[in-house]
Amino acid sequence: MSDWFAIVVPLFKGVHIAGLMLWCGGLLALPLMLSRHDPAATRDEYRRLRRATHVTYAGIVTPAAVVAVVAGTWLIFFRELYVPWLYAKLHFVAALVAGHAWVGHMVVRVAEAPDRPGTSMPYLTIAAIAVPVLAILILVLGKPDLGGMPLPAWLHEPRGGQLLLDVPRR
Ligand code: HEM
Repeated sequence: MSDWFAIVVPLFKGVHIAGLMLWCGGLLALPLMLSRHDPAATRDEYRRLRRATHVTYAGIVTPAAVVAVVAGTWLIFFRELYVPWLYAKLHFVAALVAGHAWVGHMVVRVAEAPDRPGTSMPYLTIAAIAVPVLAILILVLGKPDLGGMPLPAWLHEPRGGQLLLDVPRR
């Protein structure tokens, strides 16, 4: 393993994990914050909640999601991971992205309809987000051998394309 590789992989992994901590933590916190919205709230209370949820979603959670996905994507190539557990993980990541879009929809709904209650079922949204997060963690930490899954051969090997930079072989 080259020196360059020994530094870059832990660096990208650290950035990946820091990003996904903010991403997943924010997605779990936002439904609770939104559920605090009461249509009878004063203008000041409403402005505070709107600002807190908007800044959390647009300023922290969404950029953290982009950082986590970009760092994770580079890790696939650095580690040359073309394995079934990773493809299974990416399906759950897609579910998490759908949860991200749903939380964004809830943030906008509270902004556009202050006279309606926030979310009446924050725990349902939290559970819908916690399930893919847990599945991803089990897959990525356990790295189970899902070799029995019928996958096309081209998914198991690099396609011979060249990255922007030269990735040293392990
Ligand atoms: C498009 C999104 C994502 C991609 C492409 C991606 C890809 C990767 C890759 C390639 C690794 C390196 C695995 C290894 O070195 O064995 C990794 C590590 C990791 N990922 Fe992701 N990931 C994504 C999203 C997530 C999410 C949403 C979570 C958590 C909810 C997550 C949790 C982790 C953890 C905990 C590790 C460290 C595992 C270890 O070092 O054993 N990832 N990811």
